[in-house]
Amino acid sequence: MFSPAHIARFNELETPFYYYDLNLLQQTLNACKDAAAEHDYHVHYALKANFNPKVLQAVQATGFGADCVSGNEVLAAVDHGFDKRKIVFAGVGKSDREINAALDADIFCFNVESVQELEVINGLAGAKSKTARVAIRINPNVDAHTHHYITTGLEENKFGINTWQLHDVVSTLKTCPNLEFTGIHFHVGSQITDLDVFKNLCIRVNELHEWFDRQQLPVKVLNVGGGLGVDYYNPDTNTVADFKNYFKIFKDNLLIKAGQEVHFELGRVLVAQCASLISRVLYVKNGQKKNFLVLDAGMTELIRPMLYQAYHHLENISKQDIDQAVTVNYDVVGPICESTDCFRTDVAMPESFRGNLIAIRTAGAYGEVMASGYNLRNRVQSVYWGQQELQGI
Ligand code: LLP
Repeated sequence: MFSPAHIARFNELETPFYYYDLNLLQQTLNACKDAAAEHDYHVHYALKANFNPKVLQAVQATGFGADCVSGNEVLAAVDHGFDKRKIVFAGVGKSDREINAALDADIFCFNVESVQELEVINGLAGAKSKTARVAIRINPNVDAHTHHYITTGLEENKFGINTWQLHDVVSTLKTCPNLEFTGIHFHVGSQITDLDVFKNLCIRVNELHEWFDRQQLPVKVLNVGGGLGVDYYNPDTNTVADFKNYFKIFKDNLLIKAGQEVHFELGRVLVAQCASLISRVLYVKNGQKKNFLVLDAGMTELIRPMLYQAYHHLENISKQDIDQAVTVNYDVVGPICESTDCFRTDVAMPESFRGNLIAIRTAGAYGEVMASGYNLRNRVQSVYWGQQELQGI
C-alpha cells in the first residue's frame, strides 16, 4: 500500500495528517457509478462521511447527487457544483434558518422526520411563495445488526416517522398547499456488513410503498438510504466494495413501478478506504504489565475507536521488513488527557521506536470530519496522492 516514495515524502512532513489516495477514491466512485447505472439507480453521496474539498470535487465530477444533514452541508454541495436537482436535505432537527437556506437553494427535496417538521416547512415555503418537495423518512423498525450508536431504523431511535403516525402524515400532506410529496425515505444504520439487512429493508419498503398507493399518494422516489459497510480488517485486499452484489439485492427484492426512481445515500463505502491517518510514535513506554506506544494523533483526529469501539488496522510503515522484526504487544494510545484516548489495546506490532510512522488505515469516512479541537489541538492537515504526486500541507 505505501511505497518507499510515500514513506520518503511522509518523513518530510509534520504529523499527524490525513493521507488521501485520490486514485483509489476515483476507482471506488467509478465502480459504484457503473454498478448503479446497470439498474438506473441514483446515488447521492452522504457528505457527512467526508466533506474534504478534494473529496467533494471528485464525487461531484463523478455525477453523484448530495445527501446533506445540515444547512452548511447543503451550501457546501451547492458551492462544489452539485446539481441542485440532486441535493436532498435530511436530519431530525432542521432549524428554520437551515430550511430557508435550502428553500433558497431550490434543492430537490427535504427528507422530513416528523409531522411538525412538515408543518414548519409548509409555513416557511409559503412565506417565500414556494413549493417544497418532501419525502417522508419512515422508521421501518429494521435491525441493522451494527453498533448500537450507528443503528437508526429501530423504533427506539430518534430518526424518522413511526408507521403508526403515517395517517397523520397523509392528512397533513393533503392540507399543506406548499408541500409536494415526492416519495419515501429510509436509512437503517451504518457499517452494515450483513446484507440480509438490506433484504429485510426491501420487504418493509414494499409494504409501505403499497400503503402509500392505497392512500392515493403516488410515490415517485424510493430512497433506501446508505449504510453499506467496508472491511476495516483487510484494507489492502478488500479495497473496493462489491457494489454489483449490493445493488443486486435491491434489484431482486425491491418492487418498483414504471417511472419510479430508486435513490441511495452512500457515504462510508465510497470514501473509507481512500484515506489513512498518518502519525508518528512520540514515546515508547515499557511497563511491567503493558507497553504503550504514544502517538502524536489521538481521539481529536480520529474518534471512531473511542466512540464506537471501532477497529482500525494499525501499521508501522517505517518497518518495511516486518517478517524479521521482533514483535511486541502494545496499547496504541494518543496524547489526549483522557484514558479513553486509545486506538487499540494489546496489538502485536513490530518493535517500534520514537519517530516511526504509524498508519491508521480505513480512515476516510467519519475521520477528518469528526476531528475536534479538544485540548486546543491544531486542526488536522491533509495531503493528497493524486495522479503523480503528493500535494498538500
Ligand atoms: N443517510 C442518512 C440519513 C444517514 O444518517 C447516514 C449516516 C447516511 C445516509 C450514510 O450512511 P453510510 O453509507 O455512511 O453508512 N460516525 C459514524 C457513522 C454515522 C452515520 C450517520 N448516518 C461512524 O463513524 O461509524
